[in-house]
Amino acid sequence: MNKIYVFDAYGTLLDVNSAVARHAAAVGADAARLSELWRAKQLEYSWVYSLIGRYEPFWNLTERALDHALARLPSVNAALKPQLLDAYRSLSAYPEAADVLRSLRSQGSQTAVLSNGNASMLDAAFSSAGLLPLLDRVISVDAARVFKTSPKTYALVTAVFNVSPSEVTFVSSNRWDVAGASAFGFRTIWVNRAGLPDEYLDLPPVKIVTDLQGVIANSANK
Ligand code: LAC
Repeated sequence: MNKIYVFDAYGTLLDVNSAVARHAAAVGADAARLSELWRAKQLEYSWVYSLIGRYEPFWNLTERALDHALARLPSVNAALKPQLLDAYRSLSAYPEAADVLRSLRSQGSQTAVLSNGNASMLDAAFSSAGLLPLLDRVISVDAARVFKTSPKTYALVTAVFNVSPSEVTFVSSNRWDVAGASAFGFRTIWVNRAGLPDEYLDLPPVKIVTDLQGVIANSANK
């Protein structure tokens, strides 16, 4: 099966909560809130800058989002910032990620990442997670200087592989990213690990799975 599978990075292959989880004892009782606020602000900044028409590397937004989250949660020792950022550079991959990428490639498919992350943060994260050798391409929106869900970001994939959108299967745990990718014309799979209610009902995925293994089950049937 010679297909192109493109994965979102943060939250899909890489567990964004693993940075705070690694320092959970030092962070204390507000660990879950810190992780959630950090992620929410990082994404908000990406959308707001995109709408303004400005671009900042995603790493800068990640750092500013952490500053804000720490300021909002006085129970958390702000001196943990460097350790938390270090942990974000080397997030854990979801346990099934490597096997799923390997098996897609063994079927003859190509695997890639399309992420808001800038090249250096993606390289650091995928190297430390051991996934780089399992990815044909790691594509950063940096080349388009705008964030998802701008169609310009998804168009980087069709340009790199020289295919039409319908030839790409795009996998993301972020429902807003699935909406953007579906609007662009990708065949989309939503990894809904948390059992969240569906949204963006006018831009649905072709399949909803509970973890990355579901992507393989899907590929075997098609
Ligand atoms: C990514 C973030 C947004 O693009 O999940 O990797």
